[in-house]
Amino acid sequence: MKDFISALPKAELHLHIEGSFEPELMFEIAQRNQIEIPYKTIDEVKKAYQFSCLQDFLDIYYAGAGVLIHEKDFYDLAMAYYQKCYENNVIHTEIMFDPQTHTERGIAFETVINGLQKARLDAKEKWGINSLFIMSYLRHLSEESAFETLKQSLPYKDLITSVGLDSSEMGNPPTKFKNVFEASIKEGYIPVAHAGEEGPAEYIWEAIDILKVARIDHGNRCLEDENLVQEIVKKDLALTVCPLSNLELRNTDVMTKHPLKKLLDKGIKATVNSDDPAYFGGYMNANFEAVQEALKLSKEDIITLVKNSFNYSFATDDQKKSYLEKVDQIVSDF
Ligand code: HPA
Ligand code: ZN
Repeated sequence: MKDFISALPKAELHLHIEGSFEPELMFEIAQRNQIEIPYKTIDEVKKAYQFSCLQDFLDIYYAGAGVLIHEKDFYDLAMAYYQKCYENNVIHTEIMFDPQTHTERGIAFETVINGLQKARLDAKEKWGINSLFIMSYLRHLSEESAFETLKQSLPYKDLITSVGLDSSEMGNPPTKFKNVFEASIKEGYIPVAHAGEEGPAEYIWEAIDILKVARIDHGNRCLEDENLVQEIVKKDLALTVCPLSNLELRNTDVMTKHPLKKLLDKGIKATVNSDDPAYFGGYMNANFEAVQEALKLSKEDIITLVKNSFNYSFATDDQKKSYLEKVDQIVSDF
């Protein structure tokens, strides 16, 4: 199974670039930017990565991102992730970035996007990886701040495919961002949102009905509301599920109780993703392996998950066709 998972070409649809910041690179960039970080060794960093909830993690995640200053820092961050894509056979990825994590610290929007864009072009040339960008609004900040971010993004509109919503979910429901999502859609951005990770099923309803999302990030808690499950199936919305993230943030007690198989059995188009792999202990193959082993997923389940990720990506129809042919080829050779 491990070899099968690794041999399959994959798409990743839920990945925060700031969450792919490995401690080694964090130390290197902190040093060259002469920024103090509260850890002396990589071991100390790894020990700090014990989370009891989403907010615990977010505090450390934002602190880590604080060492990113220059365009090259963002370039290096993204190239390190693309290298992992190459190693994990991820041939298409849709990368979330949080502009406000940086603009709030006085880093220009253009510094962030230019670094990411240069890496995207180099990764395409070096490894043939296709990628799209999802600009995510931080939901613990105001809608006004999200509007400011939308405005800053407009000169770079052609580089950005989609808008998302992340950060502290509880107390920050999708409705808070109704107007900015409406405006973002008018600008041509495809809406997605984190919903039902820690927050209730009601937040997933809001993401669908009010933000008009094309995909739901996480969405695990939809299983608490059968009508919602039916709605997700009817609207043909995919869920970007993140097994190791769910385990590390205690949304799942043990992997054997992870809801992925239940979601598939209910007819929901689930996909597997790594979310913040530097913090949660693994990239795409590790996520597939962990959940396959715990839930005893079959080869057919794995193929379904992989095909879902291509089918529900924002790639063009031609790209999707070619990706799915590659999957079929590996399946028949294996
Ligand atoms: N959930 C919410 N916000 C986030 C996450 C997450 O898993 N990762 C980075 N920002
Ligand atoms: Zn996420």
